[in-house]
Amino acid sequence: MNLKLDSTVTLNNGVKMPQLGMGVWKVNNSGAAQSVEWALKHGYKAIDTAKQYGNEPGVGKGLQQGFADNGLKREDIFLTTKIFNGDQGYQSVLDNFEGQLKDLQTDYVDLLLIHWPVDGTYLDTWRALETIYKSGKARAIGVSNFNIERLQDILKHGSIKPAVNQMEFHPLCQEVDIKNFCDEHDIYLEAWSPLGGGSVLKDPRLQQIADKYNKSVAQVILRWDLQRGIITIPKSVHEERIVQNADVYDFELNEDDIEEINGLDTDKRSLWYGDFFWSGNPDGYKDSVEDWKD
Ligand code: A2P
Repeated sequence: MNLKLDSTVTLNNGVKMPQLGMGVWKVNNSGAAQSVEWALKHGYKAIDTAKQYGNEPGVGKGLQQGFADNGLKREDIFLTTKIFNGDQGYQSVLDNFEGQLKDLQTDYVDLLLIHWPVDGTYLDTWRALETIYKSGKARAIGVSNFNIERLQDILKHGSIKPAVNQMEFHPLCQEVDIKNFCDEHDIYLEAWSPLGGGSVLKDPRLQQIADKYNKSVAQVILRWDLQRGIITIPKSVHEERIVQNADVYDFELNEDDIEEINGLDTDKRSLWYGDFFWSGNPDGYKDSVEDWKD
């Protein structure tokens, strides 16, 4: 296998997306600017943010600095952002998306996702994403946190198939049914919190595997993502970890170790990832948006 940071997967519309990038959830604007600068310095080709993270301006600033410092152009980087829950609905998405582009200091994004399936509006939101896609301001469109029922809804009512479904995915949360559904429908599964927000890194079973390869647990998990065909976006605000998380191309997990990690699934999501997100309780998501502000 010959994988490096610029190795890509091909999405269902033909667009190529780097399989490993960096995420910036729970990072404030100045932290995001710094992390993005480091990521570009160390060869990352993909950055994932969201309006809900409150750090799109920081990401925009970090990208501009990273382009200048490293002789890069906008088209060298694959940029993903997501539609804020409170902006959902056809016209509201169209009206607010321009502000996201402005904050990100770009004319287009490479991938635009519906952040959460807010019930009652996500089909209208999807129509808006289709309009944005057709205008060329998003090179690909997809969803995040969609279960099978809601993916089916989009497939049934939309005219464009989502390219990606971004889900919580790590060794303890493998979403087997959703992954199988995505594979069947040529939708890439992208892992958010691929390191389980840091908690999975202490697992002694993973440590044992990591010791065998002389790698860290984080590197083993990210390598497992790559070999499983998952798109992955680990987050770190530390330069040495940003470097470490990209240093996953000089070893290959054997089948037994892949199987062992596959066997760690507990079929549980993070605690905060409560039912209200799935039931679309309007007060629930507002509270959670407040919680997400750093
Ligand atoms: P930090 O940002 O302080 O480096 P996830 O991507 O699953 O959400 O996980 C991110 C968490 O894991 C963050 O708390 C991050 O902390 C931590 N983290 C990221 N990379 C590593 C690494 N290589 N080693 C240890 N912890 C890491």
